[in-house]
Amino acid sequence: MVQLFPPRVELVVKLVVAAIGLSLLALLVLAVWRARADLLIGKAIAQPIPFSHKHHVGDDGIDCRYCHTNVETGAFAGMPSTRTCLTCHSQLYRDAPMLAPLHESARSGTPIAWRRVHDLPDFVYFDHSIHVAKGVACQQCHGRVDQMPLTWRVSPLQMQWCLQCHRDPRPHLRAPDRVFEMLDPPAAEAARDAAREAAHVVALDSRRRMTDCSSCHR
Ligand code: HEC
Ligand code: HEC
Ligand code: HEC
Ligand code: HEC
Ligand code: HEC
Repeated sequence: MVQLFPPRVELVVKLVVAAIGLSLLALLVLAVWRARADLLIGKAIAQPIPFSHKHHVGDDGIDCRYCHTNVETGAFAGMPSTRTCLTCHSQLYRDAPMLAPLHESARSGTPIAWRRVHDLPDFVYFDHSIHVAKGVACQQCHGRVDQMPLTWRVSPLQMQWCLQCHRDPRPHLRAPDRVFEMLDPPAAEAARDAAREAAHVVALDSRRRMTDCSSCHR
């Protein structure tokens, strides 16, 4: 082969080409990763039992905390046990075929394997209780759950999404005792307006701490 460049220069050229190639590959991987996250938005996730928040929350008015019992006190919101479902369904719709996995779970003692709708990578720390305490409504991050026959995701859950709020959470907050309510846009806006002057809004952590890497990556 003809020697185009002296060996030393050729090595540099090869390294540069390799570096450009690797960067392009990295960008591609990142783009696919992002697109994948976006694709999950608005897609109902099939579950072992077709549980409907629309019926249980929207029509029957059951409070989030009845089933997600840890959401005010812990990082993890908590998922309802089979026994929680059976407080009503040991009578109601007892023989419905779609509830067969529920009775099977009660017999065997194996919890129902609900499929995750939201799942942050393990290197991200998230905590429900602090958000509830400071007045970030469920609806703000999870949307109109009370209208979902099967649950889907409305938020991208990417770092920029978290940071956008952490830089200035005030406009997004409600009074903490109203975080569980599902509201139409005008009512949701009114709830945020009402909270703007409230004491808890003033007592927020510093912006520096809320955007500090170690707050979410510990
Ligand atoms: C009667 C029990 C019950 C009530 C009440 C209830 N949920 Fe759920 N929730 C479930 C069950 C069961 C699942 C798992 C199946 C699914 O994802 O739809 C779930 C899943 C979810 C998920 C998705 C979890 C994941 O995998 O990421 C969110 C978000 C959620 N619920 C929010 C709410 C909110 C907000 C409220 C109140 C407005 C509420 N739920 C009220 C039973 C309940
Ligand atoms: C507080 C009582 C209560 C609890 C707790 C409860 N349900 Fe229900 N469930 C109902 C009622 C009432 C209906 C009828 C809903 C309707 O048609 O509006 C229903 C209906 C259903 C149906 C029939 C399909 C539908 O949505 O109409 C399924 C499936 C179901 N529930 C699953 C579950 C599961 C799984 C759990 C536990 C995570 C659970 N339910 C907890 C009261 C309850
Ligand atoms: C600031 C945004 C935000 C708010 C507010 C919020 N959630 Fe979540 N929720 C998330 C994220 C992010 C996840 C995924 C957590 C993970 O994968 O570790 C999640 C997961 C869940 C899950 C699945 C179980 C779990 O904890 O991982 C349930 C159930 C849930 N949320 C219910 C609720 C309810 C009920 C409320 C209101 C009281 C609420 N969430 C408020 C962001 C939020
Ligand atoms: C809509 C607004 C909003 C969104 C979106 C949001 N947060 Fe927050 N977050 C808050 C508020 C408000 C606080 C409370 C700050 C305080 O203590 O005053 C908080 C606090 C936290 C804390 C506790 C920090 C500490 O150590 O005191 C963590 C961790 C956290 N958020 C992680 C996340 C992650 C991860 C996401 C994205 C998946 C997220 N948050 C999305 C509003 C938000
Ligand atoms: C408010 C919470 C929060 C803060 C603060 C935060 N991150 Fe993240 N970070 C996240 C979340 C959520 C993800 C997961 C994104 C995803 O899955 O797409 C993430 C992902 C990452 C990733 C993986 C690549 C990517 O973009 O998905 C890196 C690297 C990273 N963060 C570095 C940092 C650094 C450096 C800082 C400080 C300047 C920081 N993060 C501050 C929430 C946060």
